[in-house]
Amino acid sequence: MSAQKNINKRGGTDKVKKQKALAFTKSGTKSNKDKPKTRSNKGQSADKKDINFLVPPKGMRDILPSDAPPRDKVVEVSRRMAEFYDFSEINTPVLEKIELFKRGVGEKTDIGGKEMYTLKTKGGDHLALRPEGTAPVVRAYLQHGMHKLPQPQKFYYFGPFFRHERPQAGRYRQLWQVGLEIIGGESDPVYDAQIIVMFYRVLEELKVGAPAVNINSIGCRVCRPGYRGKLVTYYKEKDVCKDCKERLMENPLRVLDCKNEQCQPFKAEAPSILDSLCSACRSHLKQVLEYLEELGLPYFINPTLVRGLDYYNRTVFEIFPEGESLALVAGGRYDYLAEMLGGRPTPAGGAAMGVDRVVDLMQEKNPKFFQTRIKKKIFLVHIGELAKKRSLSLMEDFRKSNIPMRTSFGKDSLSNQLADANKDGSDMALILGQKEVYEDTIIIRNMETGVQETVPFSRVVEEVKKKLKS
Ligand code: HAM
Repeated sequence: MSAQKNINKRGGTDKVKKQKALAFTKSGTKSNKDKPKTRSNKGQSADKKDINFLVPPKGMRDILPSDAPPRDKVVEVSRRMAEFYDFSEINTPVLEKIELFKRGVGEKTDIGGKEMYTLKTKGGDHLALRPEGTAPVVRAYLQHGMHKLPQPQKFYYFGPFFRHERPQAGRYRQLWQVGLEIIGGESDPVYDAQIIVMFYRVLEELKVGAPAVNINSIGCRVCRPGYRGKLVTYYKEKDVCKDCKERLMENPLRVLDCKNEQCQPFKAEAPSILDSLCSACRSHLKQVLEYLEELGLPYFINPTLVRGLDYYNRTVFEIFPEGESLALVAGGRYDYLAEMLGGRPTPAGGAAMGVDRVVDLMQEKNPKFFQTRIKKKIFLVHIGELAKKRSLSLMEDFRKSNIPMRTSFGKDSLSNQLADANKDGSDMALILGQKEVYEDTIIIRNMETGVQETVPFSRVVEEVKKKLKS
């Protein structure tokens, strides 16, 4: 059969059949019309269960192909930044021993406690889906004796993390982070500033609005206990919420993080940690701020900024998109974490960026950006078995020239394949029918204008290259 046939302007034929719309509702469940009818209640609940199987667990979601461009961009910009600053990629397992997070993040914290997804293996190991990346990276640093390498060691990572939080906008149960960690060497404030500036520049490049840096120091082993005492004394008489009553017993600094209306007036009048810092911590914070000023980075000192993980000391910071309340980046110094995990004293600092939140913002701020087509699309249409075989080797030629191409190999009819090419927004279709195979030619069709030309098969790659350049 020849490929030369009555074809309308955008490539479809008059015979193009309308595909039946899939009988799925927006949420991915089948419409009532298509549900198998069941007689008993028992049957109905089994049916319901099957349908629930078709949606992911609460708070988790599919990352669809259309979501890939902004995510790729986030990773590409972060990777470029990390490699410029001499960070190396590290990948730790998604599952770790529960104990790592209990000790590292803190059993009494939300992230290292009630929000962890845990399981017991058939062999009896108690494991957790990693809720964060810092404790695993320090674990790997200790396990592989990386303290023997030049210090500090600098790492970056990208991957999924899991927290059984209440799902809401910008808060997912499977979340993705890009993380940076600087481990070993000195507790040097310059590293704190470097981490902040790296993420700040990444956010600038991703155009998610002016980033606002909130920074604080939560002191060290020397000065924090004194401040903790002052805070407990101050709050003792106050009518705080139930959660804060617990926090005062377990981790008093966390009362400063309370979002409950009832506690806000007390927070505003609470003693400031900045008045309790020892001279070493005060000078550390002063130097971090001086480095930020040197780099021209605006910041806001927030004395009530504390973090939800136990391993921090001295610098803590969060970066927000202008006018928004969910942090895009958060981190700080964690000089004691290696010791908490049984290692030697190892100064360290780092931060992580919430990829999902950044991507949500990128899509909101610049929806058109990711719809722009970067490459022209080529669709290979075959008619008949002989043409199909020839198409396979033709694809190899295009692969060698690094020109991507689409096909509908499962379909044999010209009209169906052209309809696919059309739906796909292809710029060009290469049409190969039996006649063309016998004559050693191929048709190049401009999908926009409908203009077709027949070229020798041996020259098709060259011809397509020329057209891609024009
Ligand atoms: P984190 O504050 O728990 O810190 O998380 C870092 C960032 O991950 C947050 O600022 C936010 O953008 C994003 N994120 C957190 N939870 C969620 C969620 N449920 N859904 C979507 N995004 C979320 C850490 O994880 C520390 N390990 C950071 C660090 C690295 N500190 C030192 N080094």
